[in-house]
Amino acid sequence: MTTAPPAKTRTETATTTPTGPISPSVQAAMRLREIVFGAAPAAAVRAAATLGVADALDDTPATAEDLAGRLGVEPKPLRRLLLTLESHGLFAETDDGMFVHTEMSRLLREDAPGSLHHISLWCTEPWTWQVWPRLAEAVRTGSGVFPDVFGKSFFDYLHSEGGESARVFDRAMTSSSRQAANDLAEFVDLTGVGSVVDIGGGQGFVLAGLLERDPALHGTLLDLPAVVANADSRLRDGGSLADRVRLLPGDCREAIPVRADLYIIKNILEWDDASTRATLRNVMAAAEPGARVLVIENLVDDSPSMRFTTAMDLLLLLNVGGAKHSKKSMTALMAEAGLELRDIRPVNSYLHAFQAVVPAR
Ligand SMILES: C[S@@+](CC[C@H](N)C(=O)[O-])C[C@H]1O[C@@H](n2cnc3c(N)ncnc32)[C@H](O)[C@@H]1O
Repeated sequence: MTTAPPAKTRTETATTTPTGPISPSVQAAMRLREIVFGAAPAAAVRAAATLGVADALDDTPATAEDLAGRLGVEPKPLRRLLLTLESHGLFAETDDGMFVHTEMSRLLREDAPGSLHHISLWCTEPWTWQVWPRLAEAVRTGSGVFPDVFGKSFFDYLHSEGGESARVFDRAMTSSSRQAANDLAEFVDLTGVGSVVDIGGGQGFVLAGLLERDPALHGTLLDLPAVVANADSRLRDGGSLADRVRLLPGDCREAIPVRADLYIIKNILEWDDASTRATLRNVMAAAEPGARVLVIENLVDDSPSMRFTTAMDLLLLLNVGGAKHSKKSMTALMAEAGLELRDIRPVNSYLHAFQAVVPAR
């Protein structure tokens, strides 16, 4: 490893120039100009992830030319891409013109602990660029625009014509579930729980985490057929947890034909309220009194990362006509379904758990 000279510090938005401080009104205009060009940093991160720029740079500083050679791209445009990214804190250029990683650019590497590589691609998939321009319309009508743009609902499209987008979605959900699975395995109280179902549980990382923690626990993974078919290998035939798992393809808005001690519903009740009502109704129909229901969401009114949560909230409006919840809106839907809410607690820095019980009837 070569020791890098100190990286230049270029702040995102300068507050001074060589001729003195920048006035608040000039700063406001600068900031607004940056915001309206927000597509540029998003596209730059997407390009870097697609090209594998972060993966091509290790702990040894490299010039744009070196990196271009490794990636098989043109050096001058790559340098321009790197400078754009650097202005947002991804990569830094040293005084002798070498690029080094920053904490943020490392997260773009596929092999980084807590990698955001797949999530960066997912948040900037081609379909997102087709729905964002319709935001004013969605705000006017209160409805999603995805079916109008693509001719079918978001998940129908993803699993029929989504192609690479469906794979990117699965990989992004997998990396985010993997990270959350460890936190949840610590968080979830399994006292008195012999069976658990994860509704809309994706490839089953959260479920696998819980089953690994408690060798007596049995579990069901319910998700759309194409997702369940691609469940984590530990849960599939021959996998280490397969004998304690039922893989259940289905639509939780239609039915949840599972009796369990604990129902987990994580990051799924952020679609339209009618789908949430139907899902919670189906939980109530399937569960016995005393069963526990754990709804886990990122909240729009209590998040340390409000720019991320509010952006996701708007994207959910566009694609599934949905919304990120506030404590109040989630509590109201759970109460309407007849659930007895016991408490709301943070799981980690970005997720909250609503713990409820099915009352005696
Ligand atoms: C945002 S992902 C969350 C996945 C997982 N619970 C997690 O937190 O990592 C939403 C999940 O809901 C699933 N899903 C969407 N519509 C569904 C439906 N009608 N019935 C069951 N699952 C559904 C998707 O396939 C996807 O796995």
